Amino acid sequence: MDFLTLFGIYVAVVLTCIALVCKYSGHQQTLLGLLLDKFTGIVSPWIPQCIQSFCYRSMHRLFHQRNNFFLFLHLLLEVVVYGEFSYEVFGFCLDMGTSSISLSIPYVLLAVKSYLFYLCCSRDPGTLTKANHTAQLKVYQYDEKLFQQGVRCSTCQLLKPARSKHCRVCNRCVQRFDHHCVWVNNCIGAQNTRYFLLYLLSVCAMAGDIAVLTADMLLQAVLRTGLLHAHYIDEQGEQQPAGPIFIIQHLFLTFPRIVFMLGFLVFVFFLLAGYSMFHIYLALINQTSNEWFKGKGHNCQHCHPYSAHNCRTSYNPFRGFYHRGILINLGEIFWPLCPAQKKEN
Ligand SMILES: *[C@@H]1O[C@H](CO)[C@@H](O)[C@H](O)[C@H]1NC(C)=O
Ligand SMILES: [Zn+2]
Ligand SMILES: [Zn+2]
Repeated sequence: MDFLTLFGIYVAVVLTCIALVCKYSGHQQTLLGLLLDKFTGIVSPWIPQCIQSFCYRSMHRLFHQRNNFFLFLHLLLEVVVYGEFSYEVFGFCLDMGTSSISLSIPYVLLAVKSYLFYLCCSRDPGTLTKANHTAQLKVYQYDEKLFQQGVRCSTCQLLKPARSKHCRVCNRCVQRFDHHCVWVNNCIGAQNTRYFLLYLLSVCAMAGDIAVLTADMLLQAVLRTGLLHAHYIDEQGEQQPAGPIFIIQHLFLTFPRIVFMLGFLVFVFFLLAGYSMFHIYLALINQTSNEWFKGKGHNCQHCHPYSAHNCRTSYNPFRGFYHRGILINLGEIFWPLCPAQKKEN
């Protein structure tokens, strides 16, 4: 494959990922989400109605109905990255004297990640049924702001426990609902937030580790070829030292697939690291994404429902309604509360 084709595929994949992330996270307030909306607005008059409705229906199927598309996309990306790593980078690294222990870490991480991924997909997030929703009513107190006592789910007809929400994609009420994750095709709730957190961290570790190994390999390649001390002759016929741009160009031309993979991994790493930080922060202050995003638009722009509700004081996330101390909050994620262990706030 030539350079331009590869570059085209690379840009397309990255842009698709960004667009999907914006779309699926459902927070239209992000800059990219807004740009995407603007773009759709500008483009749509030019596209025939039938194609538009087809796109709309496909998007609806992708994001608002349970489907395995993202499971396969996820698998495909993984196969591509691991294929490239094993096929090219691995051999180069061995040649350059990287120890086989550090080279085996990506495969160990892959196994760990796959197991966590399996748990995320297959474990019940905490579905509320006729049989167990009464007991679940006692697990959390109602804060009477986001969660009011005595409200019934309009679909399931069950009394809603505090912190639960009806997932429209899965058509069920879920205890301590966080969000519906299209990548694992499951809701994230009371029983599987722990797996989800560990899964996010393991993907970050995987992307980070392969990126470091690959970057190290490229660096070694540059050092070995003596590019740092190379010179080239410019248009005036004078000798110029090869600068960083020259080196990057050289790497692009010598190892195009490896450089693209590295770019993709760095992108994925920072994206997921940011997302993991957000979820770790939420775990520490004992909030769900659902509460976080609902709370944003509550009453006035500056207040948060879980702060001591006073516009003049700045919002302190560590004084939220369900906050019980960092360690207990974390414990609650890893050992979900059962009705018997009801805690008073
Ligand atoms: C309620 O019962 C269902 C069916 O047995 C189970 O899958 C689910 O995890 C239970 N929900 C909670 C919150 O324990
Ligand atoms: Zn419901
Ligand atoms: Zn769901």
